[in-house]
Amino acid sequence: MSMTAEAQILQYKVNQGVKPGALEGLSEKLIEQHWKLYEGYVSNVNGLNNAIGEALKTGGEMNKPNLAELQRRFGFEYNGMVLHEYYFANMKKGVKEPSSSSPLVSAFASNYGGTDKWKKQFVEIGKMRGVGWTVTFFDPLAQRLVNTWVGDHEVGHIAGFIPIVIMDCWEHAYITDYGASGRADYVQAFLKNFNWEIVQERFEAALQGKVLARIKV
Ligand SMILES: [Fe+2]
Repeated sequence: MSMTAEAQILQYKVNQGVKPGALEGLSEKLIEQHWKLYEGYVSNVNGLNNAIGEALKTGGEMNKPNLAELQRRFGFEYNGMVLHEYYFANMKKGVKEPSSSSPLVSAFASNYGGTDKWKKQFVEIGKMRGVGWTVTFFDPLAQRLVNTWVGDHEVGHIAGFIPIVIMDCWEHAYITDYGASGRADYVQAFLKNFNWEIVQERFEAALQGKVLARIKV
């Protein structure tokens, strides 16, 4: 019996659990198209892991151009998968804003001067030109929320910060319903479907130094 273990190649599944139900101001057609793009990222992450894993089994060297270029795509494809999972999960129709005693609303008050002021900055970032994401991170060291922009899927992440709110700002997130120049209307539609429940859960986990699993199983 061989004592050599076969390396396992990491593979992911499309996570139906984060697919949003009916939303206000974001059509089913739009979400279905967007979901297919998410499925493509899962498939590409698996493809990258397969290609690199198989090459390594046969002695592939990561500094060779073909493997190096596959490795360089990790940030794009992985974040394309992960950010979409956070994004779809933080949209749900009809979730009411919690009371001012909730830790999240308290943080919006102490960090920004109120939920409306957090929202104002978030909306302004969301309207910035370019392809990317608007993100509210939690800085576990400073114990405060930080709004920022992530370009493409992988540019601008802050190491060790925990994602709390994720909004897709690529045109495919709204062009079907609002047209190419409809970003501002889309941002308002996103906020109408703001899933306070999961965002609060993410924040409360972050306060304890934990990252809430992006998928509920
Ligand atoms: Fe997207």
